[in-house]
Amino acid sequence: MKILAFESTCDETAAAIVEDGRKILTDQIFSQADLHAVYGGVVPEIASRCHVESISILAQRAVEAAGITKKEIDAIAVSYAPGLIGAVLVGVNFAKSAALALDVPLIPVHHIKGHIAANYLAYPQLEPPFLCLAISGGNTLLVDVRDYTDMKILGATRDDAAGECFDKTARVLGLPYPGGKPIDMLAQSGNDSKYTFPVAHVDGNPYDMSFSGLKTSVINLVHNAEQKGEEIDRASLAASFTRAVSESLVPRTMMAAKELGYKKVVVAGGVAANSRIRADFKAECEKNGYELFIPPLKLCGDNGAMIAAQGYYEYLAGTRAGSDLNAYATMEL
Ligand code: KG4
Repeated sequence: MKILAFESTCDETAAAIVEDGRKILTDQIFSQADLHAVYGGVVPEIASRCHVESISILAQRAVEAAGITKKEIDAIAVSYAPGLIGAVLVGVNFAKSAALALDVPLIPVHHIKGHIAANYLAYPQLEPPFLCLAISGGNTLLVDVRDYTDMKILGATRDDAAGECFDKTARVLGLPYPGGKPIDMLAQSGNDSKYTFPVAHVDGNPYDMSFSGLKTSVINLVHNAEQKGEEIDRASLAASFTRAVSESLVPRTMMAAKELGYKKVVVAGGVAANSRIRADFKAECEKNGYELFIPPLKLCGDNGAMIAAQGYYEYLAGTRAGSDLNAYATMEL
C-alpha cells in the first residue's frame, strides 16, 4: 500500500511516499529555516505563506521521484496536530483536496506519533510495545507505546521543550536558528564540567521534566559575564548545557524502562540528532541491557515519510478523516 503524506506543522514543508509503512519511495523536504533565521525563530505567518507556495510543488516532485503515477497512490496521510495552526492548516487543506481529487482515503496523523514512527522506517524489525522519549522543538514526552496507535504519556515537560531550550541557549550565545546543531558542534570542543547548570526534578511525577530553569540559568550566566566584562568559554558552556539536558532526559528514560519492564528504548524527534544525547543513551542502554533505537539524523527532524509510516498503521487501525477534517494547534497523544 502506497501512502502519500504531507507535513507542515512548523517550518518544514514535506511530501513523501512510503510503501506499507516501512519502505521510503521518496521523502521530499523543503526547510524554511534560512527564512526564519534572520528573525531568530519561526515567524508563523511567514511559515504558513511558505507552505502555501511549496506544498503542491513538493507533491508533484514526490510522485515523479517515486517513479509512480498518481493512480498508484492508495491513501493520503497528513499531520493535523499539534503545530503552528496557520502552518498545519495548509497541509490539512492540501491533503483534503488531494484525497478528493484521487478519490482515496484521508488519514489524520498526530505529529508526535509520526516522529515515533520514523523509527519503523529505520528499523524494519522494530515493533511495539516499547518505551519512547520524543524530544522535539515543541514537545518533550516520555511515552508508553503499547501498540502502533495506542500510546500513553508517562511524563512531559511542564514548561519549555528540550529543543526550545537548545534554540534559546543558541540565541543567547549568538548562534543561528535553529540552534540545536550549532550548539552540538560548539560543544564538541568544550569541557562539560566547567559550568554547573540545574537539572530539575518535578514534584508529583518523576517522569515530568522542566527546562525553563536551565534556560534562565544559561541566560543569567551569559548576561552577568557580559556586565562584568568577563570572557565566556562558549564551547564549555554549550557542553555543560547539553550535559544538563542529557542528564534530565536519559536517567528518567532508563528509570521508566526499568519500572515498566521494557527492554526496547526508542528516541525520536529533532533533538534526538544531538551527538551527546545519542552517546549517553547508547552507553546507558548498553549498561542496562536495553536495545536502543534512534533514527538516522535525516529522520530525526520533521519529514513526510514519518507521517506516511504512522499513516499506514492508522489506516490498518481504521482511522479515517472526512472532508470536514480540521487542524489543531494542540492535541493529546
Ligand atoms: O522535530 P523537529 O524537527 O521539529 C519539531 O517537531 O519541533 O525538532 C526541531 C528541534 C529544534 O529545536 C532544533 O534546534 C533541534 O530540534 N535540534 C537539535 C539538533 N538538531 C536539531 N537539538 C540538539 N542537537 C542537535 N544536533
